[in-house]
Amino acid sequence: MSSYIRKKTMGDTDWFFHDRFGMFIHFGAYSLAARHEWVKTKEFVPEDKYQLYVDHFNPDLYNPKEWARKAKEAGMKYAVLTTKHHEGFCLFDTKYTDYSVMNTPYGKDIVREFVDAFRAEGLKIGFYYSLIDWHHPEFPIDQLHPRRNDPDAEEQDRGRDIKKYVQYMRNQLTELLTNYGKIDILWVDYSYPAKPGNPSWMQFNGGKLKDQWEAESLIELVRSLAPGIIINDRMGLPQDISTPEQRQKDCWPQDKETGEYLTWETCHTFSGVWGYARDEHSWKTPKMLIDLLTRTVALGGNLIMNVGPTARGYFDARADKALQVYADWIKYNGRSIYGCTMAEPEFKAPSGTVLTQSVDGKRLYIHLQDCQFKYFSFPSLAGKFTYMQLLNDASEVEYIENLNSYDAAGNLEDASLAIKTPPTVYDMVAPVIEVFLK
Ligand code: GLC
Repeated sequence: MSSYIRKKTMGDTDWFFHDRFGMFIHFGAYSLAARHEWVKTKEFVPEDKYQLYVDHFNPDLYNPKEWARKAKEAGMKYAVLTTKHHEGFCLFDTKYTDYSVMNTPYGKDIVREFVDAFRAEGLKIGFYYSLIDWHHPEFPIDQLHPRRNDPDAEEQDRGRDIKKYVQYMRNQLTELLTNYGKIDILWVDYSYPAKPGNPSWMQFNGGKLKDQWEAESLIELVRSLAPGIIINDRMGLPQDISTPEQRQKDCWPQDKETGEYLTWETCHTFSGVWGYARDEHSWKTPKMLIDLLTRTVALGGNLIMNVGPTARGYFDARADKALQVYADWIKYNGRSIYGCTMAEPEFKAPSGTVLTQSVDGKRLYIHLQDCQFKYFSFPSLAGKFTYMQLLNDASEVEYIENLNSYDAAGNLEDASLAIKTPPTVYDMVAPVIEVFLK
């Protein structure tokens, strides 16, 4: 059994820790702008101009069953949809604002259709809910707000009461956690300290942290409505999962006091931004996509990869291609991901590889990320296994133990275990060797 003791969580993270891999979906009025989900504030879009996106929101090709099928085939076991992003536009039928999908040409509850379709495919359901709201009249104008540089920004902000906005969030979270059945993850976003130089009229100096969100009481409400739900850390309070974004951790985070290992999930985009971006070209290569997954699991973490659907409601060809990379790889190599975690400390990963190990301790996986050698030495594995094979086709992998090999200077090299790299791996994206341990 894995020797890594995971810190207990209030939310049910056992399935999450096993399933490892999810789909993030960023969909909203910003999908029509098709350049960034922060377009409203990046470009200081006036309210009337932004309203055009809402007035023309009509994803007539939205087919969540197709989304769910693609997520499942890609090996994703859960999905998190933006129910409301920073723009404040709601994809669900809410009583507390008319700024929702119900008042657009589309006119139907996107969230309801998403939940039904993904649940039918057996995926766990997550809701992303933005703490930030650039449309709500009680949300104080701050350092991120689209109206922050308006000549009358101070005037616009006067009288805004964040307590009224927090009540709005309570009401909407109650709707989301009551009207759509069992929700497995609440993914809120995000808290930010005031940066120096904000104008003095900004409330809370222009930032918003746990106190402004009344985080403790929001968390209490959420847990009372959805016992077992997983809550992320972005209300400004550590909860069930930490969520490093668009970066690779270099270790498995641990509790500072107890040393217990934390449950964590890193979130990444296929391309540069979260919402659909028509003209964005920084799409990750197949190797980058798979290496991201294997490196994350090798550090005991989960990966959630984001799709930004088009405003017509479908995944574009680039997203489909990226999902297919996962589908083609995980079909044969999923055993090295699901139910796996960081390898035991006794196993030192050979250069150019990362290791994952089944939680039951019986199988070790050598992910040959950058391993161009005819042989590679793995002394810390010597004598500890019974058999090894290439995972994708279960073809035997040969090795030599106690090879008396000498380097050119005549020194005996430590070749207690030299593994022969199967030549076919050179044509594969992210090949994996499965090792059956004693
Ligand atoms: C960052 C982005 C936000 C995105 C989130 C996803 O907060 O600003 O747009 O939804 O990351 O993790």
